[in-house]
Amino acid sequence: MKLFKNTAGIYGILENNNSPLRGKEINEFKAIANGYVVTDQGKITEYGKLEELKRAESEFEEIIDCQGGLLLPAYCDSHTHLVFATSREEEFVDRINGLTYEEIALRGGGILNSAEKLANLSEDQLFEDAKQRLNKLIKLGTGAIEIKSGYGLSVEAEIKMLRVIKRLKESFNIPIKATFLGAHAFPKTYKTNKQAYIDLIINEMLPIIAQEGLADYIDAFCEENYFTVEQTLQIIEAGKKAGLKAKIHVNQFNALGGVSAFVKEGAVSLDHLEEMNTEDYDALEDSNTIATALPSCSFFLSIPYTPLKEMLSRNIAIALATDFNPGSTPSGNMNFVVSLACIKQKLTPAQAYNAATINGAYAMEVADQVGSITKGKRANFIVTNPVKGLNYLPYSFGENNIHAVYVNGEIVKT
Ligand code: NIG
Ligand code: FE
Repeated sequence: MKLFKNTAGIYGILENNNSPLRGKEINEFKAIANGYVVTDQGKITEYGKLEELKRAESEFEEIIDCQGGLLLPAYCDSHTHLVFATSREEEFVDRINGLTYEEIALRGGGILNSAEKLANLSEDQLFEDAKQRLNKLIKLGTGAIEIKSGYGLSVEAEIKMLRVIKRLKESFNIPIKATFLGAHAFPKTYKTNKQAYIDLIINEMLPIIAQEGLADYIDAFCEENYFTVEQTLQIIEAGKKAGLKAKIHVNQFNALGGVSAFVKEGAVSLDHLEEMNTEDYDALEDSNTIATALPSCSFFLSIPYTPLKEMLSRNIAIALATDFNPGSTPSGNMNFVVSLACIKQKLTPAQAYNAATINGAYAMEVADQVGSITKGKRANFIVTNPVKGLNYLPYSFGENNIHAVYVNGEIVKT
């Protein structure tokens, strides 16, 4: 048994919860001042006010002095593209010089650029690079993560990416979910015969993925110049047959009617949603589909932010994630995501932390294991430096307030 004590407060307490927080429920990020947490074999077993702790300190194999910091559940980042070949800062400079994300993609940059680079990298190299990135993110407080394929765009390279994610699952002791995103972009060779690429996804890629158990979810980039609503529906249906639920990129630049169609399909989450119309709100309202906002993508591309306040007022369940990828969001820092959600989307710090922890956990169906301070869940925590309170964390954007991160009750070594 381990005792975490001398916290200014423990935050994100939740018991008897079985669905994402929405409406008024998301307003409170429940805390106990001067709280303690007891962990045993990597799980949370007790918590409360330190003065009410019934055990003697001699009962603990280790006592962790949190030195007046806050103890929070680790972040649950439910949308990333962590596996990729190389960064794309040359496109960043192109955008500074006036080109848009779409213009860069149309001349062969963007996702196709990443696919070209990934084709030449070995599975081992991709794995080593992704491992390093994930280690960095854990030190920034991420304690569960979803990772997509989608920079392969051929049978061989998509499977290679998913095998890398499988190896990450085996090497890291945090919840990791794999999403098959073969429908990320049409490869150049299929430009004039798009259905042939969709057939390749359905008839060649999916059977291997199902047979080897390489993915948990299916995704597509539903957008002008990428996949239409109808094409995305084909992909979702085929995914369903292979046992994969949907998490879909939709409404990043244009509202094409995908939201209501994919809610009807029972998508676990719809992600991006920077552009929303009345029909989209109506479809998400009271549905079981989580709306996942990716504010660092909006920040980096200078595009609108997902209207989270409007969503909250309509009782839509929201989550926050990074979208970490080399093109539109070269950052996997959830601390910054929470700050942006407060600064740009006007969430309160409590709402933003709930969206980045427990609701993120629901958006990748790991809420039984992580996302809150709950008895029986993994002891995946952030301990901050001594700060005045929760509000200071998103307020002091760009500052690293993390003192230590714990995964399954063990400190993550720096
Ligand atoms: O979520 N929108 C589509 N895909 C990624 C960007 C991919 C890239 O540019 O490499 C995203 O923003
Ligand atoms: Fe994405």
